[in-house]
Amino acid sequence: MWFPDPILAIETSCDETSAAVVQGRDVRSNIVSSQIEMHKKWGGIVPEAAARAHVEAIIPVVEEALSSAGITLDQIKAIAVTNRPGLVGALSVGVTFAKGLALARKLPLLGVHHLEGHLLSTFAGDTTPPFPHVCLIVSGGHTELVKVHALGEYEIVGETRDDAAGEAFDKSARLLGLGYPGGYAVQELAKLGKPRYHLPKGLSGDTLDFSFSGFKTAVLRLTQKEPNLSREDAAASIEETITEVLTERALRACDHVGASALSLVGGVAANLKLREKLARACERIDLPFFVPTLSLTTDNAAMIGIAASWRLAAGERSGWDLDCLSSAPL
Ligand code: KG4
Ligand code: ZN
Repeated sequence: MWFPDPILAIETSCDETSAAVVQGRDVRSNIVSSQIEMHKKWGGIVPEAAARAHVEAIIPVVEEALSSAGITLDQIKAIAVTNRPGLVGALSVGVTFAKGLALARKLPLLGVHHLEGHLLSTFAGDTTPPFPHVCLIVSGGHTELVKVHALGEYEIVGETRDDAAGEAFDKSARLLGLGYPGGYAVQELAKLGKPRYHLPKGLSGDTLDFSFSGFKTAVLRLTQKEPNLSREDAAASIEETITEVLTERALRACDHVGASALSLVGGVAANLKLREKLARACERIDLPFFVPTLSLTTDNAAMIGIAASWRLAAGERSGWDLDCLSSAPL
């Protein structure tokens, strides 16, 4: 069911250079080198700069992943790498490195879908969410509700029609002058405030989709027009509204599809308020709730190794023509 030997996994789809050693679904190491400090200067990600930073970081990060797992390259039996979706220049660094290593070492290579990595991050260690479950994927680029029928059988039952939840956090943070990326900064400032400003929740009715464009405009208006704006209260209102929408929609999805459990993954799954709200809501209806440890929420290679582990065990391999794609269905 899971690949029994050590896998070296690599993730360079956006602004983190990450390498991990995963065996079965045990995370033996998970090293993440963030480019956040560099991108902060421009208030967002500059794709070309991201790719060059991956070129600089990739070898030291891989070496650290091996040494912190207490393993040598000789003991690695497969190479996994994120090849879709993401910034093509950034992905190319990881994919080219992985191909070179697999060729030199005569190892099997597997390209992994970034979102399948997030989705299976709750399977780390010996946790197995029951099927079918609903997985809420919330990151900087994606907001999806997925019905997980089985490993590899995914059905998207709801998604955002415009911005992702992470983008809603990031754009709000910028309007509050909190810099990039904003999710964590909003969370910290929100602890000092009260959610007293009203912000729209987007789509109404019995939908499983999301829309954050009206929300974004309302935050812009709030920051420009409100006299004596309390940034703390604004942050609390932003966090409250986003987490409320996500909670409401995720529970509705569970109800609609008859889910046996709910899981929460992706960068925004690091948000403590969201983790707490979903845990409480699930507890009320006796629905098992799964969420990975914080280090497996934002982009990391361990989740890529876990996704690769079952596919490699099932005999899947990529060819030397493995490509990098900016968008790809899950
Ligand atoms: O999954 P991820 O690392 O990268 C993508 O695949 O996009 O997600 C990054 C997103 C960013 O938008 C960031 O602001 C958000 O996750 N994020 C948070 C928190 N930590 C990271 N959002 C809310 N609260 C947090 N504590
Ligand atoms: Zn991600």
